[in-house]
Amino acid sequence: MARTGVHFVCQECGTSHPKWSGRCDACGAWNSLAEEPVPAAVPKGLKGAKGHRIAFVGLEGSGGRPPRKASGIAEFDRVCGGGLVPGSAVLVGGDPGIGKSTVLLQVAAALSTSCACAYISGEEAIEQLRLRADRLGLSKAPVRLAAATSVRDIVATLEDADAPEVVVVDSIQTMYIDAIDSAPGTVAQVRASAQELIRSAKRRGFSVLMVGHVTKEGLIAGPRVLEHMVDTVLYFEGERNHQFRILRTVKNRFGPTDEIGVFEMTDRGLVEVANPSALFLGERQGQISGACVFAGIEGSRPLLVEIQSLLAPSPLGTPRRAVVGWDSGRLAMVMAVLEARCGLALSGMDVYLNVAGGLKVGEPAADLAVAAALASAAGGVPVPSGTIVFGEIGLSGEVRPVSHLDIRLKEAAKLGFGRAIAPPRRGGGERRNGPSGIEVVEIAHLNELLSLFRQPSIGRAAAGALERDPGSRHE
Ligand code: TYD
Ligand code: MG
Repeated sequence: MARTGVHFVCQECGTSHPKWSGRCDACGAWNSLAEEPVPAAVPKGLKGAKGHRIAFVGLEGSGGRPPRKASGIAEFDRVCGGGLVPGSAVLVGGDPGIGKSTVLLQVAAALSTSCACAYISGEEAIEQLRLRADRLGLSKAPVRLAAATSVRDIVATLEDADAPEVVVVDSIQTMYIDAIDSAPGTVAQVRASAQELIRSAKRRGFSVLMVGHVTKEGLIAGPRVLEHMVDTVLYFEGERNHQFRILRTVKNRFGPTDEIGVFEMTDRGLVEVANPSALFLGERQGQISGACVFAGIEGSRPLLVEIQSLLAPSPLGTPRRAVVGWDSGRLAMVMAVLEARCGLALSGMDVYLNVAGGLKVGEPAADLAVAAALASAAGGVPVPSGTIVFGEIGLSGEVRPVSHLDIRLKEAAKLGFGRAIAPPRRGGGERRNGPSGIEVVEIAHLNELLSLFRQPSIGRAAAGALERDPGSRHE
């Protein structure tokens, strides 16, 4: 029988259930229901209460816009849309140990020279924070430190006249409001704590940067509603074993999304990477089959990365498909198109695909680069040297135009690439060289790409994959 006074709240979607069950009816998540006391004060609704009149204003204000607060850490300022907007709330999510506390301490220290900054930690003691600051060489920065978890105390402090203008709260899952009985980290506490902090930030005009823990599914722990409440959501990504860290804008009310900031984790904290393409291509092995350089766009900036693939005859009935840094569904599609439209039989092969450097690529423009890597691996023929590849692939094997053509080509030229395998220009037009004299090989169908890898020298492990004449399947 359902107990009175408690309800069960899904920690994924925040839905309340009167009884425990193994699966949330609302979002379908398993084992996500946690017991929480029913909030004491049930709102009585609006009946009887008289509201105040609200005043409407025009879109154009009289005063100028408050300036954004730029930290001077260019990679961070870019993902925030040019700096922190006063009164805004930013949520920074990421795996444990990825560097959230480190980057926010560095940002707070950088901002503290121009405005008052506070760093409130519910996770670490003051001594530990000082140790980190010392390691980062930031001990002298005038950041106000505090170890606190009570939102009531924090908000009371921030309402003071000499309150800081930028506040870091690390992390929102450790904060609690004493009026709510459930434990810190539960949906009710996370939601209410964030709400109080955001309300205070909007009222007093300070910017609040909150750290949010990530669940094993990669979402910010607690209800999705947290992402709706804040103005900006940043995700800190990267492979723990790589030194690269990528700060990605998932949502931004005051700027573009999908921007990325690239950092390198060193023994003295996170260092900005001004030229990420050079970094991602730094460990390239030269001319080997199965590797292809993709000219991608992340937000507004171009980024060259190497896509690597490996094929091996599979001993299994269901061959392995292992993908790191790209979407496995998209890989299945590219493989199906290669097989059905171009006769490249990959079905008996184990396929491994890796985006080198720990970057996650989400663009469809990577299709053609993945196809080139697979075709190169299948034929045992390296992609011609000094060549970059990009383009979206359709289900009939056609290669479709992608955005930002010139930006991609310019970046490739800057890094010394001489040729690009690219889709035809939108609306047709003359085949012409790209900026900086880079030769553009426009291909309209995947078969044209495959003909690059048909050489008499094919004879490596996976040579059997190119068994049929690709041209014969071109419909
Ligand atoms: P941290 O910022 O504590 O991660 P999060 O807050 O996301 O959990 O970063 C911890 C990791 O960063 C830890 O593995 C050590 C590493 N690190 C460095 O390599 N160099 C440094 O200067 C610092 C401060 C941390
Ligand atoms: Mg931390």
